[in-house]
Amino acid sequence: MVYRSGVALLIALYPGSFDPITLGHLDIIERGCRLFELVIVVVLPNRSKSPLFSVEQRLGQIRPSISHLANAKVDSFEGLTVDYARQMKAGVVLRGLRVLSDFEKELQMAHVNATLAGELETVFLVTSTEYSFLSSSLVKEIASFGGPIHHLVPPHVALDIHKCYGKTFPPTKTESVQ
Ligand code: PNS
Repeated sequence: MVYRSGVALLIALYPGSFDPITLGHLDIIERGCRLFELVIVVVLPNRSKSPLFSVEQRLGQIRPSISHLANAKVDSFEGLTVDYARQMKAGVVLRGLRVLSDFEKELQMAHVNATLAGELETVFLVTSTEYSFLSSSLVKEIASFGGPIHHLVPPHVALDIHKCYGKTFPPTKTESVQ
């Protein structure tokens, strides 16, 4: 194991709201698992968003989505990313970058975390091209209008979302005449 300032550099946190987890998130987790000894997916509060799913529901969606990855696990934390990182002795915060508009927020977050915990490195992975447009909000918007989301999220997550909006895809006869 490699250490710097007493923290294990090979443990990476992948923090986020994951409301819900998408195939874009999974892409980052799978690629992170090839780079780090352990990737901890951690569901954290984002005060600027009102979640559709409870933390327990999100954990329940993430767990089966990453069960094929031996070096990934999932957890939740009610507090700062840096405090959780210290608790887990993680040296890296892993984040995905999709488009230029992500950059400002991500850079700010990386700087804030660096001021709070200088020993923590933020590592960005560029999201794979096929998921560069994908966000949890977009998935929810499509589903809220009864559109298809099976190509954007794992199947069990698609079911949860459709249940939430009281819609199915393809629409049943009753839904399509509404
Ligand atoms: O998936 P998101 O919503 O872009 O993830 C943002 C998240 C949850 C990683 C961020 O809001 C966060 O780190 N929240 C925990 C509180 C914290 O540490 N705030 C200071 C850094 S912004």
